[in-house]
This record gives sequence, C-alpha cells and structure tokens, in this order.
Amino acid sequence: MTDAAHLQALAIEIAREAGELARVRRTEGVAIAATKSHIADIVTEADREVEELIRRRLKEARPDDGFLGEESGAERGTSDITWVVDPIDGTVNYAYGIPSYAVSIAAVAGEPVPEEWDAVAGVVFNPASGELFHAAAGSGAWLHDERLAVNDQPMPAGALLATGFGYDPSTHAGDLARVARVMPLARDLRRIGAASLDLAFVASGRLDGYFERGLHPWDHAAGALLVIEAGGRVGGAGDADVPSRTMTIASGAAIYDALRAAALG
Ligand code: IPD
Ligand code: CA
Repeated sequence: MTDAAHLQALAIEIAREAGELARVRRTEGVAIAATKSHIADIVTEADREVEELIRRRLKEARPDDGFLGEESGAERGTSDITWVVDPIDGTVNYAYGIPSYAVSIAAVAGEPVPEEWDAVAGVVFNPASGELFHAAAGSGAWLHDERLAVNDQPMPAGALLATGFGYDPSTHAGDLARVARVMPLARDLRRIGAASLDLAFVASGRLDGYFERGLHPWDHAAGALLVIEAGGRVGGAGDADVPSRTMTIASGAAIYDALRAAALG
C-alpha cells in the first residue's frame, strides 16, 4: 500500500466510526452547546464529541502527525502530515434533522495552510445517506467503489450550481449580489448546507459547479481533493488554484473560468 492509500484507508475507517457516532447522537436528540462567531453559528455536543473521537483515533494510529480541527483547534506534529477535520460539516442541517451533513477528514502534507499544503487523502462521509466519498492523490475520486468524474459536457440549459451563505449577516448582501452575477450561467441553484457535500457532488457530477465565500480550511480540505481527483478544477480569488476564505470555486474545466469571473465580479 502506498502512503497515500494507507492514509486514505485510515481516514475511511475513522470517518465511518465518527459518522456512526454522529448518526446515533442525532437519533437521541441534538442539544446546541454554544454559539460561535455569530448567533447562527452553532456547535452541538455531538460536534465536540465526534471531533474528540477522530482526534483520539488519529493520535493512537499516527502519534507524530499534526491536527487541525474545527472544534478543538490546531496542534503541530513532527511528521509532514496534518489531519484537517470537520467532525460535522452542515451542523445547522444536523440540528434541524435535514439528512445532509458529513464527517470530513483530509490528510495534507507540508505547511498546514491551504496555500501551502498538498492534499494526500480525503474522505467525506454522510452517515444519514451512508454515502462515502474518498480520494487519494493520484488515484482518483470514488463513491464507494465507483470512480467519479466531474461534468464537463456542454451545458446548453446552463449549469446546475450550488453555493452557501456565511453565518455573519453583514456578508449576506455581498453573497446575494454574487448570486445575481452568477445566475446567467445557471440552470438552477442549490444551497445544500454542507460545503464538503457540495464539493463531493461536483466531483460526482451531481452538480456542475460550486462557489462560496467564507469557507474555512476544514470545510474544503477533503472535498477539494475529491474534485481534483475527479478531473475538475478548484480555486479561489488568487492566481494560484487554491480555495480561501475570500472565495472557493469548483467545477469542470469547461465552465471554470466563466464561473470564477462571475463569482469574483
Ligand atoms: C458550514 C457549511 C455550510 C457553509 C458554511 C460552513 P459547518 O460548515 O459547510 O454549507 O455555507 O460556510 O461554515 O459550520 O456546518 O461545519
Ligand atoms: Ca462543522
């Protein structure tokens, strides 16, 4: 097994275990533990417990690696690998009982910032649907054992696009103006509520493209690798093809430049 395949297998095993914990906690009823950046930005007890499980399992399996998680922060390792983790992406869906949430786990090499890391393996697991998307660098993107490819066909009726809106109300006007700029490219627009699933859906051709401002590294680390390994492009506001807080764009090559231009205005 290559190193990337080994990291991918470990991420799959832990994502399944973590997802099952999230699913069970959901059936028991969800309690909001706290609000974070804004009143709409919530964390549940399950987010924390699931991240603890992932962090503990990774520490047992690979004690030298670093960790960057949404709920418990960053810790540098002594190896070249850092695990970038969102225990529950789509927490608002989770809290409301909408079955579109996911455990997102990525292993990245190099400095643990998106501008500098190389994603090595990534897993996005939705325990409510049972769907597990996974990729290792150079080995393709997969939904279970089905190889994924982005849509890159002509789209005479426009592209099926997805986006998201941040928790900070002061950003909503700008996000809506962006939607207005992008709509001429679209046949329709989805707001699924979990960035990792938006990216997994671009990888699997369920969406033609995705754009969103304000993402954190754990929202896109695994999903971006899925899109790249499915033959798509992922980028942001800068010249390098790297997603950032300013902008994340993902699609097949055919619409990428037009989508990026419209999203950036
Ligand atoms: C959020 C989701 C959402 C996106 C937000 C993210 P969280 O992550 O991915 O779709 O619009 O920007 O913060 O808070 O549910 O982990
Ligand atoms: Ca989260």
